[in-house]
Amino acid sequence: DAKIPILHGTYANMTELAQHCNQCHRCELGDTRTHAVVGRGNLQALIMIVGEAPGQNEDETGLPFVGKSGQLLEKILASVNLSTETDVYIANINKCRPPNNRVPTTDEMTACKPYLSEQIRLVDPKIILLTGATALKGLTGDKRAITKIRGQWIEWEGRLCMPIFHPSYLLRNPSKEKGSPKWLMWQDIQAVRAKFD
Ligand code: URA
Repeated sequence: DAKIPILHGTYANMTELAQHCNQCHRCELGDTRTHAVVGRGNLQALIMIVGEAPGQNEDETGLPFVGKSGQLLEKILASVNLSTETDVYIANINKCRPPNNRVPTTDEMTACKPYLSEQIRLVDPKIILLTGATALKGLTGDKRAITKIRGQWIEWEGRLCMPIFHPSYLLRNPSKEKGSPKWLMWQDIQAVRAKFD
């Protein structure tokens, strides 16, 4: 029930949090999910990537970003020598798949937010990458268009965040020409990488 708060410090570890997510009915997405999709990657990563919500592949496997978007995300990270196994932890704003992959409602995002807050506390990343406008809005409440704000460092609760394009947007805009979304993404991921060089 979304009215029951999940307090800061509720979970001792990600396993406990995942068990809770898999029994969660704080919103109606809990009625239709196959698996809650909590996260994957290094639990001590310096970089956390936040997506929107699981799609079909993720709902089936219980792992985030394993479909086409995920494959592109892996390629983008690999281009600057970052791997999801060692350098990154990946999670979503919503842990359960919205029917027909619709955008999660504001209420659904609000109901699920405490899980992400707890994940951020547990992983304690130095940098959070927010993929797309929904991730930006879901975490920070910032409603600006992703085309306006991508690539800029912003601060959220004392943490350094960068909104970037969602990989699915890049799949729909495959041009790599200078100034194209893919080209801009490449600039952004290099700026992220440069923080660690
Ligand atoms: N898109 C997302 O935003 N998250 C996933 O986990 C998969 C696709």
